Amino acid sequence: MTGIDTIVVLDLDSQASRLLARRVREAKVFSEILPAGTRPEKLKALAPRGIILPGGPGSAGPAASRCHPGIFHLGIPVLAIGAGMGLLAREFGGEVTGNAAWEEGVSTHAPENTSMSAQASEDAPAENRENLEIIKEKPLFFRLPAGVEVWMSRGDRVKTAPPGFAVLAATVNTPVAAVGDDERRLYGLQFHPGVFRTPAGFTVLENFLSGPCDCRPSWTPGSFIERTIAGIKEEVGNGRVLCALSGGVDSAVAAVLAHRAIGPQLTCVFVDHGLLRKGEAGEVQKIFAEQFHLNLVAVDAAERFLGRLRGVVDPEEKRRVVGEEFIRVFEEEARKLGKIDFLLQGTLYPDVIESMTEDGQTVKVKSHHNVGGLPADLQFKLLEPLRLLFKDEVRVVGEELGIPEEVVWRQPFPGPGLAVRVIGEVTPERLTLLREADSIVNQEIAVAGWSRKLWQSFAILTGEKSTGVTDGQRTYESALVLRAVTSEDAMTADWARLPYELLDRISRRVIAEVPGINRVVYDITAKPPGTIEWE
Ligand code: XMP
Repeated sequence: MTGIDTIVVLDLDSQASRLLARRVREAKVFSEILPAGTRPEKLKALAPRGIILPGGPGSAGPAASRCHPGIFHLGIPVLAIGAGMGLLAREFGGEVTGNAAWEEGVSTHAPENTSMSAQASEDAPAENRENLEIIKEKPLFFRLPAGVEVWMSRGDRVKTAPPGFAVLAATVNTPVAAVGDDERRLYGLQFHPGVFRTPAGFTVLENFLSGPCDCRPSWTPGSFIERTIAGIKEEVGNGRVLCALSGGVDSAVAAVLAHRAIGPQLTCVFVDHGLLRKGEAGEVQKIFAEQFHLNLVAVDAAERFLGRLRGVVDPEEKRRVVGEEFIRVFEEEARKLGKIDFLLQGTLYPDVIESMTEDGQTVKVKSHHNVGGLPADLQFKLLEPLRLLFKDEVRVVGEELGIPEEVVWRQPFPGPGLAVRVIGEVTPERLTLLREADSIVNQEIAVAGWSRKLWQSFAILTGEKSTGVTDGQRTYESALVLRAVTSEDAMTADWARLPYELLDRISRRVIAEVPGINRVVYDITAKPPGTIEWE
C-alpha cells in the first residue's frame, strides 16, 4: 500500500511469517509478506521501514537458503530471528554452529496451533523455555520484565557475535541470545517467533517498530477505509462494477466499501438458491438494500435449484449441480445489466500469499466461490479491495463500516448451503425441517453466549429414522445431528465442549417444536479424522 509505513516480512517459514505479519499489523503498522528470495533491488524500490526475517524453529531450511545477503546492506533496519539470525551472523563473519543437542529426538516442525491468543508456554516444550538476561536494554529490550521467559529456537546457534555487533541478551544455555549493531540497525534474535504470542514478545516487536524502524502507527481500520475508497474511485473511474453478494462477511465488506467509493456504479446480485438458513435471504435484502441502499438485484431461484437437485443424493454431485446452476443464474443477471467493466471479489490476503511466485508476483488468485467459471465472453477486470487483509481485519473493517454484527461475525457457510446438510435427497419438506431445527440450535447457542466461541454450529438432517415415544404414542421419525466445532482455519477442528444444559435445551426444544424429528445426537468427532460437514 503506497504512502504508508510498511514492514516487509520475508517468508522463511510460512507459519512464522503469517504470525509475525499479523502481530506487526496489531501494532498498527502495515506489513507485507514477500518470498524469501525477493531481490534486494526490489526491496529497495519498495522502501519499507524495516525487514523481518522470521526463521522457523528448525535449522535454516530451503527458503532461508534463497535469501539474498544483499538485503542486509540496503540501509534498511532488519530483525532476523532463529534461522534468520544465522544468516545475518554468517554474512558478517560471526560463528554459527548446528545445534545437534537441540535437534535430537525433537520435531523441527512448528506446533499446529496458530492461535493468536495461544500462549507460548502452552506450545513450547518446557526444555525450550529460558529466562533472558538483558545486557543492553535499548532499543529492543526496554519495558520488559526482568528475567522474562523466552522460547529458544532449536537448530543453528550463533556462537560468537560478528565483528561490529554487540551481544544484547543471553540466557544460561545461550550466551548469544540476541545481537545488534545500532549503527547499521541490524538485529538478530535466537528466540523462536512463538515468543511474539506473549505480551513480552510483542513488546520486543513494538520496540523494533518504533525504535530502529521509526514507524508511525498508521495502519488503522479508518485509514484502510479511506485509502481503499480513494483507490477504488481511481481504478474504476466511470466504469461499472458487478458483485455477487452472498451474505458472508467478505463479499459484504467488499460491497459496502465499493458502494462508498462509487455508489450507483456498483450493482450487487444476490442469488437465493433456496438452500440458505431460516430468515437469511430476507435479512441480506433488508441490510444491504434498505439499510445501506446498495443497488441490489435479488434473484429468487429456489425452484430452479431444487428442480435440478431432485433425485441427486451424491454429495459431490450436489456441489456440482449447485455450482453450475449458480453460474447460469449469475450470468443471466449479468447479461441483463449490459456492459460491466469490473467484477468485485472478496479475495483475502492468505489467498494472495498462497498464489505468490518466487519473485513476489501473484499468478492466479483462487477464484471466489461460485463465480470462477463464467463464460469467456463475460470478461471483467477483477476488483479486489480486501486483498491485503487477514480475516480478522476484514471483520474489524466491517464493524467500522457499520455492518451489523450478524453479518460481520457470521460463521462460515458452505456455498452449496443446506444441500450438503440434508443427507440424501434434498426436498422442500426436508429443507424446512432442517431450517427449523437449525434455527433453534443457533438461537440457543447465541443465548448461551457461545456463538463467537465457535467456528461453526449447525444441524444436519440424517436419512436415519428411529423409534421414539411422544404422549404415549410410538413415533418413527428422523434423527438430527448437532455439530459445533472450534477451529482456527477449518484445516483442523475440534468438537466444542458445549455445556450439558445447553445440549439438553437444544434437544428438548427441537424434539418438541419440530414435528418429524424425534432424536438429537451430538457429533463428537474431531477433524481429522472427521470433516466439519457431513457431506
Ligand atoms: P470440511 O467439511 O471439509 O469443511 O471440514 C471445511 C470448511 O469448508 C466449508 N465447506 C465448503 N465451503 N463450498 C464452500 O464454500 C463447499 O462445497 C464446502 N464444503 C465445505 C465448511 O463449512 C467448513 O467451514
